[in-house]
Amino acid sequence: MSHYQWYPGHMTKAKRMMQENMGLIDLVIELVDARVPFSSRNPDIDELGKNKARLILLNKADLADAEANRIWMEHFRGKGYHVLETNAKSGQGLKAIHGVVREACREKIERDRKRGIKNRPIRAIVVGIPNVGKSTFINSFAGKACTKTGNKPGVTKGKQWIRMDRELELLDTPGILWPKFESEEVGKNLALIGSINDEILEMTQLASDLIVYLLEHYREQLACRYQIDDPDDGMTPLAVLTHICGVRGCYKKGQEPDYEKAASVLMDDFRSGRMGRITLELPPDVGGSADYDEIEETEP
Ligand code: G4P
Repeated sequence: MSHYQWYPGHMTKAKRMMQENMGLIDLVIELVDARVPFSSRNPDIDELGKNKARLILLNKADLADAEANRIWMEHFRGKGYHVLETNAKSGQGLKAIHGVVREACREKIERDRKRGIKNRPIRAIVVGIPNVGKSTFINSFAGKACTKTGNKPGVTKGKQWIRMDRELELLDTPGILWPKFESEEVGKNLALIGSINDEILEMTQLASDLIVYLLEHYREQLACRYQIDDPDDGMTPLAVLTHICGVRGCYKKGQEPDYEKAASVLMDDFRSGRMGRITLELPPDVGGSADYDEIEETEP
C-alpha cells in the first residue's frame, strides 16, 4: 500500500525519472483504476509518452461495473489507444497483453525489419498514479519465470529490464505519475477509491458523497447490501447511515448512532468490492461526468 504526500519535489523527481528513461522506451503501459479511469489518469503522460506506442490497462476491472468497463474501452480506443481490462491481482486479462503489445508496436517491428534489425525486443515502462496496481501488475505479469537482464546505459542506476519473452522487456520500476487534484470531483473520486490517506479525510462526508452517487446509480446494490427495503428518491445520506448503524450495530455508549463507524463500514464495503462492481464516472461522450475540458488545462 502506498502512503504518499504529494509535494513539488516528489513530482519533479518522478517526472525526471520518466523523462530519463523515455528515450529507451518503445511502449508505455499506463495503468488506470477502472472505477475512475478519468480521475486516475494524469494528462502529462500524453506529453511524456508522445511518439511511443500506448497501451492503457483498465486495472481493478474486477471492482468496476462490467458495462462501464466496456464503455471506457470503447472510449479509449476511439482516442487511439490500445486498451485492455485487467485484474493484476488475480492475473485475469494479462495473457492478452502480448498480442496487443505486438499490435501496438507494429510500426516499430516493421521499421526494425526494414533496417535488418532482428530480435530487438520491445521495451516497455509501466506508469500510473499511486495505488492503481503498478507493482502488483509487474509482479503478476513478469511472474517468477522471467530473467532480469543487466543494466543498460542510460537507465537510472539500479533499474533493470525484466525479459518477458523474446519480444518484450519491461522496466522493473514503474513510473509514478502524480494525481491531478485540481478539480474537486477528481479529488473526491480519488478519495473514494482510497487513494488519499484517510487520516486527512472526513469519513462521514466522504461516505455521504458516496451514498448520493449510489442512490442515483447503484441503488439496488446499496439496498441489497444493507437490507434497505424501499430506498426512495427522498432518502438522505444521513438516513442511509442511520440505517447502516442499525443493521451493523454501530452505536456509541447510550445507543447513540456512531456515524463515523457506519461510514467506514460503507467505505470498506465499497472499496473491497463487497457491495458489488461499481464505477464512479463515465466518459462525456455517454453523458458522464469525466470533465475533459478540465484535463486539457491542467498543469502539474
Ligand atoms: P501501485 O504500485 O500502483 O502503488 O499499486 P499496488 O500494486 O501497490 O496495488 C495497490 C493495491 O491494489 C494493493 O492492495 C493491490 O493488491 C491492489 N490491486 C492491484 N491490482 C488489483 C486488481 O486488479 N484488482 C483488485 N481487486 N485489487 C488490485 P493492498 O490493499 O495495498 O494490498 P493487498 O491487501 O491486496 O495485499
